[in-house]
Formats: sequence, C-alpha cells, structure tokens
Amino acid sequence: AHDIADERDNSMGLNLANDAQLRALAEQLNSAVTGNWRALPLVPGATPGGADIAVTNPADRREQVGTWRAADAATVEQALRNAVDAQPKWDATPAASRAAILEHAATLLEARMPQFMAMCTKEAGKTIPDGVAEVREAVDFLRYYAGQARKLFGHPEKLPGPTGESNELHLGGRGVFVCISPWNFPLAIFLGQVAAALAAGNSVIAKPAEQTNLIGYYAVKLLHEAGVPEAVVQFLPGDGATVGAALTKDPRVAGVAFTGSTDTARAINRALAARDAAIGVLIAETGGQNALIGDSSALPEQLIKDALSSAFTSAGQRCSAARVLFVQDDIADKTIGMLAGAMAELQVGDPGLLSTDVGPVIDKDAFAMLESHGKRMRSEAKLIAEAKMDASTEHGTYFAPVAFEIDSIDRLHKEVFGPALHVVRWKAEDLDKVIDAINATGYGLTLGIHSRIDETIEHIVSRVKVGNAYVNRNQIGAVVGVQPFGGQGLSGTGPKAGGPHYLPRFGTEKTVTVNT
Ligand code: NAD
Ligand code: ALA
Repeated sequence: AHDIADERDNSMGLNLANDAQLRALAEQLNSAVTGNWRALPLVPGATPGGADIAVTNPADRREQVGTWRAADAATVEQALRNAVDAQPKWDATPAASRAAILEHAATLLEARMPQFMAMCTKEAGKTIPDGVAEVREAVDFLRYYAGQARKLFGHPEKLPGPTGESNELHLGGRGVFVCISPWNFPLAIFLGQVAAALAAGNSVIAKPAEQTNLIGYYAVKLLHEAGVPEAVVQFLPGDGATVGAALTKDPRVAGVAFTGSTDTARAINRALAARDAAIGVLIAETGGQNALIGDSSALPEQLIKDALSSAFTSAGQRCSAARVLFVQDDIADKTIGMLAGAMAELQVGDPGLLSTDVGPVIDKDAFAMLESHGKRMRSEAKLIAEAKMDASTEHGTYFAPVAFEIDSIDRLHKEVFGPALHVVRWKAEDLDKVIDAINATGYGLTLGIHSRIDETIEHIVSRVKVGNAYVNRNQIGAVVGVQPFGGQGLSGTGPKAGGPHYLPRFGTEKTVTVNT
C-alpha cells in the first residue's frame, strides 16, 4: 500500500474553504472573462471558410461569450494529410520527450486554472467547484499518461525465453487517432483522450462537442505552447454528423477514442467497420443507468447526502450520476421524507457564485429532453420533490432538480442526462431482483451501495455488472490513477480512463525475437 500511495501525483487544485485563496480566485476569474473568445480549426495549411457561430452562456442566453467556426471539407482533408505526415516523426520521438512535453502542458494548465475555470463556467455552465475539479482532472490525465508512456513506451519489455534467444516486446504508436469528446467534461475528457493518444506516439485530430469548442480550442493552443507540434495535434471543430462522421469513415484513421452517448458509439463502430482499411480500434466510454442501493442498515443522513451529491452535482450531467435510488422498504418513508427536505435546501442558479449547488443544463435540447421526461414521470410516477428556482434563472437553460418515486427501473427507457432522481422501494427478500433489474438495463457504469452489512456489500458488488462500485460514499468524481473509470456493456468498451491498461490500447505491440 505504501508503494501505491507513493505513485500518486495528483493535482492539489484549490482550497475553496480558504478565504484568501477564494478572494484571489474571484479576482482572477473576473479578469479572465473577456467575452470574446474565438475558436477556429487549428490545421496548418488550411484557411477555413464559413461563418462564425455565436457561443452563449447557458446561465444567461443573452450573453455571447465567443464564436467558433466549423471545419469545412477541405480543412478536414488537410488535417488528415497533416496527421498522416506528422505521425512517424512524433512516434520516433523518445517517449520520455513526449512525456516531458505533456508534463509541461500540465504545469501550464495548473498555472492557468482561473482562465480555464472561467471558460468552463461561461461556455459549459460549470459551478466553481466543478471548474476546479475539471482543471485538476485534466492536469492529472496529462501527468498520469506521461508517466505511463515513460514506463511502458520508453523501452522494450524483456521477456523470458530459451538460452541463446532474446525476446522483447516493443510498444509504439498506431498512426492517426481521432479523439471525439462530449461537452460535459469539455477540458478533462477532451485533454485526457488527446494526452493518451499523443503519449502513445499517435498524431491526433481532436473534435470537441459542438457545445464546447472554445475550451477545446484553448486547450489545444496550450498543447502547442507546451511543445506538441501543430501538425501532431490539430483541433477540428464541427458537427458530429459531418466532421465527426467524415473522420471516422476515413481509411487513414487508425483509431478513435470516443466519449459520449451509446448511440453515437454504435454509429462510429459501424463507420470504422465499413471502411476498406485496416481494422480500426475504438475506445468508447458511453452512458449509464446508474443505481444506488440503500439497505435498512444504511445511515440515513449519509445516504441522503451522497444521493444528492451523486444525482445533482453538475446538474446531473455526469455519466456517473445516480439515476435510481433503490431504498429498502423499512427505511423508505424516512429516506424519502429526508430527500424532499434536503432538496428544498438546494441552491439552483448562477454557477459563478460559490453558494450555488446546481447550475444550468447545457442547452435547449437538454432542457427539452428533461421537460419531456418530467412530463411523462408526472403522469406515471409520484413526485417526491422539485427544487426551487428564483427569477435569476429565467434567461438560462435551468432545469429544477426533481425526484420521483417509480415502481421499477424499467420506467426509464434510456439514460436521463440531467438532475432527475428516481426512487424505487425494495423488500429484503427481493435484493436479487433489484440486482437483476439493474443488470437488465444493459448499462454498467457506476453503482453506489449504502450498507453496514459486509455480506450484503460483497453480494451486491460481486453480482452487479459495473465498472465502478462505490460503498458508503458518493458515486461521482473518480480520481485519475486512484479510481480508474469506465464501464461495461452499453457503457463502453474499456479500458478504463486514468487506469494502468488505458495507454497500451492506443499503441501497437511488436515482439522482437533474436537468435543470439
Ligand atoms: P454525443 O454522443 O451526442 O456526442 C459526443 C461527441 O460525438 C460529440 O463531439 C459529437 O459531435 C460527436 N458525434 C455525434 N455524432 C457523431 C457521428 N455520427 N460520428 C462521429 N462523431 C459524432 O454525447 P454528448 O451529448 O456530447 O455527451 C453526453 C453523453 O456522454 C452521455 O450519454 C454521457 O453518459 C456520456 N459520457 C460518458 C462518459 C464516460 O466516461 N463513460 C463521460 C462523459 C459523458
Ligand atoms: N469521471 C467522471 C466521474 O467519475 C465522469 O464523475
């Protein structure tokens, strides 16, 4: 355990309980807000045409914070050519040098935490604690994959063999990697995927989500500043259906690192498979239908605190978020009453205020999906509570956190990506039915358990098919290198981000046997 602890080198972030640090942060955040951020494709040799598209603040849609411009077909083609040409030299660069560049990027990013936090708030609606966590996680990914590259890609692994023979396993880059990311972790997941692909010796074309191009643009500029050549990591904003699809069907692409919805992962898988090209690798991290099981031995206050945090942090816009709370019937009334009480205290509003618990959802489409789900639940289920929102939210895309009591997890036909929690009662003799119902969703991302009974905990953990199980704590906020993150089934292909098996998947393996 001592050795494992020593390997941790996670970013310390900021102590938001420290007044002096908070005041300094507030000043830096204010000075960082320019309101005229601009994102263009970063593709050497291309002159992207097209119109600028406005980016507005999810907390107040009247506020324009910047503009972005989508890559046209000629820019996509130029990016692919550049990436093919640049990859061999980058692959031949010693892994230690690639790692040093990524570590330099981590240091630059940590020093610019307030600027990136400001963008996370203004473009993605992130609260201040979420902004700190976002930058910290991005820094952690850069350092972690740099360390893994040194360890795994820096020198061949010597393998045992008969006398008179040497055997070595060499890891190298695959070629051109396309990294396609979601808006809900616009910096951490965006940079995590890109850092891993670069660390392993690939050239990278990074396509961010349409909603968060500004953050992606400034992150790639930072990688260039740190020393990654401009043709080795290129920024290619655009719609998934056009730019994303053009990239994933191109035979020059060796692999795709994707995080987003299960449906999009399937579309990418089909595109890769249909190509008349080498079989492309897909690393997909997708959605969840995550459960939290509380039994009658659970501590009610802790259960409610962790349920709230798991369901409503980041306005529920985390793939890891708890969607269904299974509560044992003998504590159900008390738990539901406490849940309603706690939800009445939630502060919903301006993500730039430290007092805010829940900020806006990302856009009008997300809001409409949640509205439609809420409407269906109101007719099929029992409303437990809906958080209050005041007039300050009227110009943003805010959705009030809501909880319903439902009779079965089957009422949720797909992932409800936002601040909606659903409570199901269960009887002691039905624990296995609860487990079967969770597994039957086909998703397998996170699971929360609140219990003081070791046998129950072990039974649930061993039977529920998930990537990350959390016992007697919340089920969000996996830490790089500490809780490797990712699911199974409909939740993704693995390997886990921020874990020891992630990087080799971005590389090729060559065994060299020499008769000495
Ligand atoms: P999304 O699937 O709509 O979009 C993700 C990315 O895919 C975007 O960049 C989009 O432009 C691109 N895309 C869309 N269609 C494409 C196509 N045909 N070809 C290529 N690219 C295409 O997902 P989202 O709404 O941005 O993100 C939310 C989803 O992400 C949720 O389902 C959430 O659970 C999931 N998520 C999973 C993890 C994880 O680690 N498992 C982490 C964060 C988010
Ligand atoms: N890695 C993120 C979390 O654990 C999605 O919440």
